[in-house]
Amino acid sequence: MNKNLTNQQIEDLMAQNELLRSEIVQIARLGAKGDAERLRIQVVRLSRRLRAEGDELADLLQTAVFGRGDGVPQGITRSANSAKARYELSAPVPTDAESRMELLRVESSPSLPHRLVQSEGVMRQLQSVISERGSMARLAKLNLLPTKTVLFTGPPGVGKTLAAKHLAVELGRPLLVLDLASVISSFLGRTGNNIKQAFDFAKRSPCILFLDELDAVAKRRDDEADVGELKRLVTVLLQEIDLWPHDNLLIAATNHANLLDPAVWRRFDRTIEFPRPDAATLIALSEECVPKGEIPEGWLKALASIAQGTSQSDFLRDVNRVRRAVAIGGKKEGTQTISEIIEDRSTLLKMSDRKIVAVSLVKDVGLSQREASKLSGIARETLRTALQG
Ligand SMILES: Nc1ncnc2c1ncn2[C@@H]1O[C@H](COP(=O)(O)OP(=O)(O)OP(=O)(O)O)[C@@H](O)[C@H]1O
Ligand SMILES: [Mg+2]
Repeated sequence: MNKNLTNQQIEDLMAQNELLRSEIVQIARLGAKGDAERLRIQVVRLSRRLRAEGDELADLLQTAVFGRGDGVPQGITRSANSAKARYELSAPVPTDAESRMELLRVESSPSLPHRLVQSEGVMRQLQSVISERGSMARLAKLNLLPTKTVLFTGPPGVGKTLAAKHLAVELGRPLLVLDLASVISSFLGRTGNNIKQAFDFAKRSPCILFLDELDAVAKRRDDEADVGELKRLVTVLLQEIDLWPHDNLLIAATNHANLLDPAVWRRFDRTIEFPRPDAATLIALSEECVPKGEIPEGWLKALASIAQGTSQSDFLRDVNRVRRAVAIGGKKEGTQTISEIIEDRSTLLKMSDRKIVAVSLVKDVGLSQREASKLSGIARETLRTALQG
């Protein structure tokens, strides 16, 4: 030790040394308990202090826990030859002890059939999850952690699963799907254990874990129909979500947000609500999915006005039905198919939307006012006035 140090400086050094020792013990304790989240927070605190003191141990610690500063767990290789970094799984997927069925569905290199088209609000939220992941080192310097758990809520067919894939593609990670409904129905007695195994596997790998049909397990615990087994599963699930590490992303989806236990809601850093689409969203979707000029734009407008307020998935089903009809029977067959679709749907449409549909059938599809009025259930007089307006 430097002879020129004052007594005060020596005392300070000893105090610092003491502090460092107790922090290391605390980190070891958290590590032994498997409390990865608090361990990371502790490491972030310690490295901030060390960095302020100019100690390069700060960077070593940060790298040891957060990888190369971008949230990549250590020991994971990124494939260098793809434009976007991609991570690959190295271990085999866990299976159910008796049936040997794989507990997770793995999409190693997820890809989208077409772009995700959702409201501006949903797209913005998804983008912010992606941006946080790209700025993990910057966040860590401020003692902040990125969003680690996201809950998607919304009706069927509005793009929840597609959005999970979109995130996996953008983050260059495999998508691991744990379908809770099927896990429960196939092996109820062993479900708790299976869920634990699936989480353990996913925690160790750089991935996005997608819990589909969360409501299948996370039903309100005070639900009378609940059996003890399901209650236990909720507890297992809550524990697993709590232990989920920040360097991986967990997404859960449900159609029945109202069935979720409030304790489950609280576990998620963010909830993204997927709305039903309006006509403009559906027209944007058709631009993604239908080759230009294959069917008249006016038809797509009419189909969008018929399907608004349903789902992207319903709209695409209608559009593809019309495309097939045109491919086989030409335009006449296409018009006939649009008429059939509106016949099926008109009773489900609100009065105000029916008027929009009726106008579109005349203006965009070229039906007579009489036909449009019959199909939409709008009086001819009302239609005539609307067309003049
Ligand atoms: N927002 C969207 N943008 C583009 N395509 C969509 C969208 N939503 C649905 N689709 C189309 O419908 C298909 C089914 O959608 P998806 O499985 O993502 O819906 P979901 O919300 O997960 O439904 P569920 O609640 O039934 O699981 C997609 O593969 C896609 O072709
Ligand atoms: Mg889905």
